[in-house]
This record gives sequence, structure tokens and C-alpha cells, in this order.
Amino acid sequence: MFIDKTGMNDRLNGKTVLITGAAKRMGRQIALSLAGEGMNVVIHYRSSGDEAAELKERLASLGVKSWTVQEDFKSETNLSKFIQGVKQEVGDLNCLVNNASIFPSGDLEDIEFNDLLTNLKVNLWAPLSLSRSFVNNFEGGKIVNLLDTRVAGYDWDHAGYYFSKVLLTRMTKMTALKYAPDFTVNGVAPGLITPPPGSGNEYLEERVDRVPLGRYGRKSDVADAVTFLLQSTFITGQILYVDGGRKLLHEQGG
Ligand SMILES: NC(=O)c1ccc[n+]([C@@H]2O[C@H](COP(=O)([O-])OP(=O)(O)OC[C@H]3O[C@@H](n4cnc5c(N)ncnc54)[C@H](OP(=O)(O)O)[C@@H]3O)[C@@H](O)[C@H]2O)c1
Repeated sequence: MFIDKTGMNDRLNGKTVLITGAAKRMGRQIALSLAGEGMNVVIHYRSSGDEAAELKERLASLGVKSWTVQEDFKSETNLSKFIQGVKQEVGDLNCLVNNASIFPSGDLEDIEFNDLLTNLKVNLWAPLSLSRSFVNNFEGGKIVNLLDTRVAGYDWDHAGYYFSKVLLTRMTKMTALKYAPDFTVNGVAPGLITPPPGSGNEYLEERVDRVPLGRYGRKSDVADAVTFLLQSTFITGQILYVDGGRKLLHEQGG
């Protein structure tokens, strides 16, 4: 007999998702796409309170419920209280999207222990801590972690970030096994999508020759992958590369 032990089926309508770093950029697009499927959204933000409030209004116009929650993952290490707070306010939470991230520059020569620690705290420890609390507080659900196509190769210019995302990739697979059968855990690894904060579109144009499909992707390409993984009832522990084929070049050492 078919029983989906996550307590969900392929319909996201009426379910609730917590998205970290949801106020802007990719997180915002994921929120809009999931709201388009009828999901209620808990918008986590760190410093972008105005953008979070604007997104809340936009989601209301789409007919779904939403809440805004603030937390700095750099300073707070016990995120179980954060999840318990969300539970109190929202009730049932069905999905978690670990999207928030930092992307500081730093090569192997420059990087200091504290830089590494900060990357690990925000990009690895927060997703792990949130996943653990999510699993401990709810009976079933689905998790998607935002990774990076760079994990298939190297990133010499963002060493701390790179290490944190490589570990997050392993963590995605380990938690998928650990939390089955009640929870699924998958990863989405974007490639060239948006320029880093502070850079313009020339950042993307200068790099399209490294993408087999010859262009950069859209935020909606990434959001579609997240939506697909949250809808799936039989995929866990997988990494979906949304990178125009960039991983293939990493694999052949390019
Ligand atoms: N953009 C791309 O092309 C690309 C490529 C590969 C992988 N990715 C991955 O996809 C995800 C989304 O990318 P993005 O470019 O949209 O990310 P981003 O803009 O760099 O960061 C997303 C959000 O993370 C939040 N954040 C940063 N530091 C935090 C902290 N200490 N505590 C809590 N939240 C914090 C910020 O929230 P506030 O604004 O509220 O401070 C920020 O808006 C990330 O995981 C990234 O690594 C993106």
C-alpha cells in the first residue's frame, strides 16, 4: 500500500514552508514560486526587514498566509528555540528551505580561522541545526538545502564558502538517510544565476563562456527545482544541479 510517510503528498497547496534568507534575490523568488503553488510562507530574514515586509504584502495579494521572522545565524547557535518560536506562531510546518548564505572572498593564503568559522556557522551549522529542530518538532516533512555547482569542482577565490558548501552537500545526503522515512532531504546546486550583491550584470556576462548552455540562469529556474523537490514523494538525498551544464566542465577539470 502507498503511504507517504512525510505527511505530505505532491500537492503543496495549503502547506507551510520556512525559507531562510527569503526577503531578497533567490529566496524571494522561491517564496513567490511556492506561494504560486498555494503554500503559506514563513519569511526568515536577518537585516532585510523592509524587503521582508514588502514580500509579506505581495504574498497576501497572492492569497496565502505569511509571517516574518528575524534571526542572525552568526550570533545565534541554538536554533531549536527559533524553530519552537516558529511552531508557536505558525502551527504546523511542513517544509524547510535552507537558502540563507554568506559568500565572502578569501583564498587559501588569506583565510583565517575565524573566517572559516563564520562560513561554517551560517552555511553549514545553521542548516544542520534548523533541520534537526525541524525534525524534532514535527512529524514529517521535506527539506531542501541550497548548495552551489562549485561543489563539483573548486572555488579558489571563496575558500571558506566553498568548504562550507561541500560539507553542506555531504550533510544533505547524511540527513536524508538519518531522517528517512518521515522526512526527505535534497539539495539544489545553482550555477551562474545572479551577480553577488554589489556587482552588476557584467559579472554574469563575463562568465557565460564557462556555461555549456552559453547563458546565465534565472532565479525562477532555481525556484522551479526547489518546487519540484518539495512536490516529489520519492526522491531523497539527491542534488539537482541548475547550472546550464557547468558541473560537466567541473568534472572534466574545467
Ligand atoms: N546567486 C547565485 O547565482 C547563486 C549561485 C550558486 C549558489 N547560490 C546559493 O543559493 C542561495 C541563494 O543565493 P543568493 O545569492 O540569493 O543568496 P544571498 O543574497 O547571498 O543571501 C541570501 C540571504 O541570506 C541571508 N543571510 C546572510 N547572512 C546571514 C546570517 N548571518 N544570518 C541569517 N541570514 C543571513 C541574507 O538575509 P538579509 O538580506 O535579511 O540579511 C540574504 O538576503 C545561497 O545559499 C547561495 O549560496 C546562489
